[in-house]
This record gives sequence, structure tokens and C-alpha cells, in this order.
Amino acid sequence: MSETYALSAEAAEFYESTFVPALFAAWAQRLVDAAAITSGQSVLDVACGTGVVARFAAGRVGPSGSVVGVDLNDAMLDVARRLRPDLDWRLGDACALPFDDGAFDVVLSQAGLMFFGDRTVALREMARVAGPDGRVVVQVPGRLSASPGYSALADVVARHAETSVVDLLGAYFAVGAPELLTELFRAAGLRIDRFDSWIGATRVGSLDTFLAAELLPIADRVDAAVRDRIVAECRAALAPFVGPDGSVTAPIEVHLIVGGRS
Ligand SMILES: C[S@@+](CC[C@H](N)C(=O)[O-])C[C@H]1O[C@@H](n2cnc3c(N)ncnc32)[C@H](O)[C@@H]1O
Repeated sequence: MSETYALSAEAAEFYESTFVPALFAAWAQRLVDAAAITSGQSVLDVACGTGVVARFAAGRVGPSGSVVGVDLNDAMLDVARRLRPDLDWRLGDACALPFDDGAFDVVLSQAGLMFFGDRTVALREMARVAGPDGRVVVQVPGRLSASPGYSALADVVARHAETSVVDLLGAYFAVGAPELLTELFRAAGLRIDRFDSWIGATRVGSLDTFLAAELLPIADRVDAAVRDRIVAECRAALAPFVGPDGSVTAPIEVHLIVGGRS
């Protein structure tokens, strides 16, 4: 997925202006709370994207602490640098983190694990750079089937497109099965201290914005006529999630795991 996740500068700005306020800022708050970060700690944000988790973490560690964000995508890092030039942003792969063993007190990763080339290797890397007493806190989308707005959208797309296209939409939910996450942590030599599943909500101002954002991964995989049919059917299928003011609230299951080296 990493190679398919290359983004333009425009897409990275769209991510920050649309996806971050719609859902990831609220997720980041929970993640940083669960990590119990204290003043003066060193924190790493793996697959930091435009940096929302790192920004929250910076507020917790204060001036005596440090926060580093690492991501494979330079366009995302450019937005992160623009917003917080004072934090340390590095280009790097979660599967080969460019840091020494035990370099961080806390390692965080939000909405990244499902995209990593080798998820077990990436978790092992997080354990390595967190060190024996460090904390590893990971948050990912849960099951598509427990996220009704998203499953309605996937059902519509499945009626019009081949499986490989539907799989692109499902990529966000690829590690959503709790037993898979538990097994990945075990295989990476990480114990689990806490496993919370909670229902978040993606909130955007209009159905047009929701569809533009959520159908982005398949935009160049279906022709215009098929896309128009998908959009028309999605308008009906997603009507239950549209409020009187036209805004969309789509529930999404989220898993939050707090752990450390076994
Ligand atoms: C959905 S975004 C999440 C960004 C951020 N954590 C947030 O909560 O907004 C997924 C991020 O994972 C990054 N990513 C994907 N594969 C990666 C890898 N192997 N190593 C580092 N980052 C990766 C992408 O570039 C992208 O910025």
C-alpha cells in the first residue's frame, strides 16, 4: 500500500483540511490521552501524515520533551512542517525506522498500520525504538461491517466495480478484525495492556464532500459513467446519515491498543 499511498501536494492539503477535522483530530485526542504522555518525554509518531497526533503530543510533553514524526510521504510531511516547523519531521518507512533502539519513551501510530508493507515488522520496529520500558500505542479503523455508512458505500461500489476496486475502499479497514490485531502484536513481541474498541464518527459538511473524499481512492479506477451511477446510488444509500442541515455523520469503529514489549 505504501507505493499506492504517494500523494500530491494538493491531496495532502485536502487530507489536512478535510479528513483531519472530520475524524482524525478526535481520534488523535483519544490516542494521546490513552498514551498518558507526561512532560519531558520523547515521543515518536509513526506514519504521522500531516502531523495531527504529533501536534497533540507536543502539547503534552511541553518544552522539555521532544516529538518526532516519521512518514513515507514527503507531501504529507510538507504540510506537517508548514503547520509546526518547530517539531522534527523525518522521511522514513515504518518497517525500517531510522532511529536507535530505545530512543523514545512513547511510540504512537494512528491510521497507518493497515498500509505498512509488513505489519509485524513495523510493530517490531516500534517495540525496538520504544525500548524495554517504553509504551507503544496504536489506533486503527475497526471492522467495515461495524461502520454502517462506510459499508453502505462499499456495497454500492461492489454493485458496479470489480473486487480489486472494492478492496481499495476496504483498505482502511484491513486490520479491523480484533483477533488479527491481537495476533500481530503477539507476533511482534508486544504485550497488550489495553484494547478499546469505540465508535467514532466522521463528520463533514455535505454528502458531496463525503463522497468526494471517500471515493477518492477509486476515482481513477472507474470510468465517468460508472462513477456517476455510484454517486447517484450512494446518495440514496447514505441518506440515513445526512442531517437536516445537509451534513453527514458516518459512524466508524476504531480500535485503540496500548502495549509494550513482552
Ligand atoms: C491515513 S494517513 C494517517 C496519518 C496520520 N497518522 C493521521 O492520523 O492523520 C496514513 C499515513 O501512513 C503513511 N504511510 C503509509 N505507509 C507507510 C510506511 N510504510 N511508513 C511510514 N508511513 C507510511 C502515509 O504516507 C500516510 O501519511
